[in-house]
Amino acid sequence: MPEHQFLVPRRVRAATMTRIDKLIAAMTLEEKIGQLNMVAAGLTVTGPVLAADVTKDIRAGRIGSLLNVWGAPEVHALQKIAREETRLGIPLLIANDVLHGHRTIFPIPLGEAAAFDPFLWQRSAAEAAAEAAADGVAMTFAPMIDIARDPRWGRIAESPGEDPWVGARFAEAKVRGFQGAGLHEGLADVKALAATAKHFCAYGAPLAGLDYASTDVSERLLREVYLPPFAAAVAAGCAAIMPAFNDVAGIPMTVHIPLLGNWLRRDLGFAGVIVSDYNAIAELLRHGVAGDLVEAAAAALLAGVDIDMMSGAYKEGLPVALARGLVSVELVDAAVRRVLTLKERLGLFDKPFGRGSMSGAAAPGRAERRAFARELACRAIVVLKNDRILPLSPNLRHITLIGPLADVPAEMLGPWAMAGNADVAVTIREGLAAALPKATIEFALGVGITGTDVSGIAVARECCRDAELVVLCLGEAANMSGEAASRANPGLPGAQVMLADAIFDLGKPVALVLCSGRPLMIAAAAEKASAVVAAWFLGVEAGHAVADVLTGKFNPTGRLPVTWPRDIGQVPIFFSMRQPGRPAAPDDHYTSKYLDMPVEPLFYFGHGRSYGRLALSNLRADKSDFKSGDQLTIEVDVSNEGPVFGEETVFLFARDPVASVARPLLELKGVGKSALRPGEGGTVRFDLAAHELSFPGSDWKPVLEPGEFLLFAGTSADPKQLLSIKLRALPD
Ligand code: NOJ
Repeated sequence: MPEHQFLVPRRVRAATMTRIDKLIAAMTLEEKIGQLNMVAAGLTVTGPVLAADVTKDIRAGRIGSLLNVWGAPEVHALQKIAREETRLGIPLLIANDVLHGHRTIFPIPLGEAAAFDPFLWQRSAAEAAAEAAADGVAMTFAPMIDIARDPRWGRIAESPGEDPWVGARFAEAKVRGFQGAGLHEGLADVKALAATAKHFCAYGAPLAGLDYASTDVSERLLREVYLPPFAAAVAAGCAAIMPAFNDVAGIPMTVHIPLLGNWLRRDLGFAGVIVSDYNAIAELLRHGVAGDLVEAAAAALLAGVDIDMMSGAYKEGLPVALARGLVSVELVDAAVRRVLTLKERLGLFDKPFGRGSMSGAAAPGRAERRAFARELACRAIVVLKNDRILPLSPNLRHITLIGPLADVPAEMLGPWAMAGNADVAVTIREGLAAALPKATIEFALGVGITGTDVSGIAVARECCRDAELVVLCLGEAANMSGEAASRANPGLPGAQVMLADAIFDLGKPVALVLCSGRPLMIAAAAEKASAVVAAWFLGVEAGHAVADVLTGKFNPTGRLPVTWPRDIGQVPIFFSMRQPGRPAAPDDHYTSKYLDMPVEPLFYFGHGRSYGRLALSNLRADKSDFKSGDQLTIEVDVSNEGPVFGEETVFLFARDPVASVARPLLELKGVGKSALRPGEGGTVRFDLAAHELSFPGSDWKPVLEPGEFLLFAGTSADPKQLLSIKLRALPD
């Protein structure tokens, strides 16, 4: 059987034809290909090929879906054309990048990941879906679930970080949230969106951290790291998948039959829609795997790509490919069926104007949604360092605020905030002013985010002269992360290091607040600052959230979802590395270390400080010996030894110390939380199925090899503070 045959599902002849059967039977080839054609409508620009007037092509049945348009009147006007002025009245599918909120912008996904809380992840997706749906949107190109371990890559901002277990939980939560889990009608509900898990796959591992570049990862890395979040998204019922722009070992993902066809469609049974990335089918020519649009279109269709986003290759190329016998009409029909099925599942045939017509409840800007945005932003903030200057004293009468990120609303929103409104974003200056109404806030910019003008540094220093404490807000502009925003040197841009040094030289305590879409290389500044706070891009409530954390109104709970390197020379650096035969030893020359810097990161995965003191003890398991079918209960005690209420995040790691394939030093197996009042004690419990300790064996099937296992619990991946126990896997 040719490899692509499973793309054409075997159909049992039904007694009566379904709506979709009848439509397909009635469609011309041009109309069929139209359903596979997605075009930008021009409200915003998210790719190099620009939008044209779409109305004529909609009327002719040559467009099945649109992106980059929102707003009920705009969407409904286009939908009306599709419904009332086309031959078959097939509704349009309206899609957008709803990545971290729609109008109410939430923290970037990397920041959200720091909350380590699937309920919040799900809720933010549900809130964003409700807002986008109120704007007529029916599909989002999210969640982005690329595992990212290289801060040079700007899209690390959109990702859940470095770990596949976290990526999988993030994927499930987001799919459930977007797709209306808990809503009466599920995906058909007018508040739900079809989710698109992207970018399939290994897009987060481009060579040299360069966006769109080639990736060359091993099959083991694919199976252990890059595929599990997609498997989780599919298991959660994700409606669509977007192949990545990159090639994996020479095969562009848009035409990757082994991964798209064999793994996703055949092995996982994914029957949803595969939508190409923006212009990606035409870019197959530049990849050098297709000679013209005809070959490109045929190859993408054969790999299982249903929708061509913005390249026009299906429109131009498929008729010729069919005539040449490169693809069959059955293959086209199967793709059309998947697209129409999605439209039907979304309720678009029955209620084409449903999204965008609901009242009150889903209206943007609701106070509760803002309150939620503030809570989420608080939970995204990670206090990286605190030499007891935070929380700020409530008696502080005078705050000196310095830096180019202190008072710029637009920069608070982050890289995917298309329908966001900077006018309603709260800056750090505004947040502090609201939180400390009795304090005076002196502010100086110092320098720009980028650029070489240092003339403001003297003013900034002067401003700090009488300061008790300086809040220094540095970092990147929002558009320095996200798509096409790789940075070879992701440190503080422009003259910010000069500004920071000039302020540190004054010898005052400095709380450094970093706005960024990635871990920034700030080892020297982190050394000199008394406190360092990772504030990512927090969205509309950024300023309030930063103020809540700085003043202690919110006791910080955020933990790093990604290892924070000391220097870009350490990249890639992540906690689940394997141990080499010569592990780093300071006094032994022939060991795995750098001559010019430590091997340890600046901050470990999971790192983050609170204002309390919570301690872990007594890690235990309900069995010391287990078999592959067993269920294990692991517990660890937590006590609050500090003076304030606090919440701790506890990570459960495992290691298989002797196996047929060298296993990582630590693999994440669970995350738990404990919130305790001063003096209180509690227990965090993990339910771990023994098979979760297995790994892909030589035939890629999961194998649990008998022998010793180590389990660890800790508040980060820093090996120095991990508690450990030994268990033994017995032969079945
Ligand atoms: C290209 C990006 O890679 C993708 O994530 C996005 O969904 C599309 N453009 C559409 O804007």
